[in-house]
Amino acid sequence: MNDHHFQKLLLILEESLTTSDFIKLTLSSKKVAASDLKNIYVKAVTIKAGTMLSFVFRYPTNDITKNYSFEEGMEFIKTSLQKDFFQAILLTSEKDVHFMQFKNGKTTIKQLPASQQLKPVFLHDRPKSLFISPENNVYLRLLGVTTDEGKVKKGMEDKFRQINKYVEVVSSIVEQAKLPINFSIADMGSGKGYLTFALYDYLTNRMAHTPVVTGVELRPDLVTLGNKIAKEAKYGQLQFIQGSIEKTVLPDIDLLIALHACDTATDEAIFRGIREKAKVIITAPCCHKQIRKQMNPDNALAEITKYGILEERQAEMLTDAIRALIMEAYGYSTKVFEFISTEHTPKNVLIVGVKKNEEEPVNQDKMNKVQALKKLFGIEYHFLEKLLETPSL
Ligand SMILES: C[S@@+](CC[C@H](N)C(=O)[O-])C[C@H]1O[C@@H](n2cnc3c(N)ncnc32)[C@H](O)[C@@H]1O
Repeated sequence: MNDHHFQKLLLILEESLTTSDFIKLTLSSKKVAASDLKNIYVKAVTIKAGTMLSFVFRYPTNDITKNYSFEEGMEFIKTSLQKDFFQAILLTSEKDVHFMQFKNGKTTIKQLPASQQLKPVFLHDRPKSLFISPENNVYLRLLGVTTDEGKVKKGMEDKFRQINKYVEVVSSIVEQAKLPINFSIADMGSGKGYLTFALYDYLTNRMAHTPVVTGVELRPDLVTLGNKIAKEAKYGQLQFIQGSIEKTVLPDIDLLIALHACDTATDEAIFRGIREKAKVIITAPCCHKQIRKQMNPDNALAEITKYGILEERQAEMLTDAIRALIMEAYGYSTKVFEFISTEHTPKNVLIVGVKKNEEEPVNQDKMNKVQALKKLFGIEYHFLEKLLETPSL
């Protein structure tokens, strides 16, 4: 392959390396279906030997990293695009470049505005230390994430990535919210406790907090397992309680977490956080059934909801947007964002609320917006709103 689109890609790549505008190159869409190599990520790193191109070769169960000089790297990229991959996406601080080849030999190249502005790009690339290490990790081993030798087990790579990303995100929220050293955490619907253990580990061993962490879980078998592992890991201030999110009696809650608590269990968790004036509420919702069942717009939105998949996505967005809006009405600054690529888990949206210091009455403007959204989508009620309106609760 030697056509002008290919030459153009190589030229832009070379130029970006010379001017230090280069951010990242991804080679993907493999030509040989049977090949194990899924894609290659290339970035620049500065190591003792100087600035090099670092290639990450991604296989289904592991990644292999190799560094090459610019010249070697350029040759490697050329060969890979000729033999192994159809697609190249180049990110520079000036522009994004999408290069594509087709089976009939045709190629296209598109230049788009830069989606990332990371400059300067050739600063020393510190090795990214993991938030949670798999080595000598008692709870990861007992939970079946790692082997006796401290390696991540085959098939558990996504879980391990998710744990690390989650700890990265939550620990940064804890830092920003300026929670005291010995704050309390309630993890509602803690399940097997992967994330509960990892957060406890990071906060106590790396951030020097002394949190009291309680996992609340309906399933007694998971509670027994969690408490057994906490004992073996010598995590004295971490315990699991069998009970429901709604009713389990807990001491003051500073940080309320509910990850993947199904459908309205997320609303119950947010409700408890609001009612008990938790300083921070973090939820990763899933299974948005309650709103989906009710959605019945009598306007142009019906053109969206008539398709099952779009109705499902719309219901997710609406459910979570109303949750965030209600949290704002009750005095929380909220953020909604993806915490990990959908490649690793599809349930990847986090709603984070941090309580503002001032005690304020419920913001009726925001609640009016909730009403407006409900009306627009023909919804009778949102479960969280209903919980907050019920006087006996
Ligand atoms: C999908 S799992 C998520 C587990 C964990 N939070 C995670 O993200 O890895 C949901 C867990 O919530 C529990 N659960 C669901 N509804 C609950 C409720 N109302 N009260 C307590 N636990 C609940 C389920 O038993 C299940 O273990």
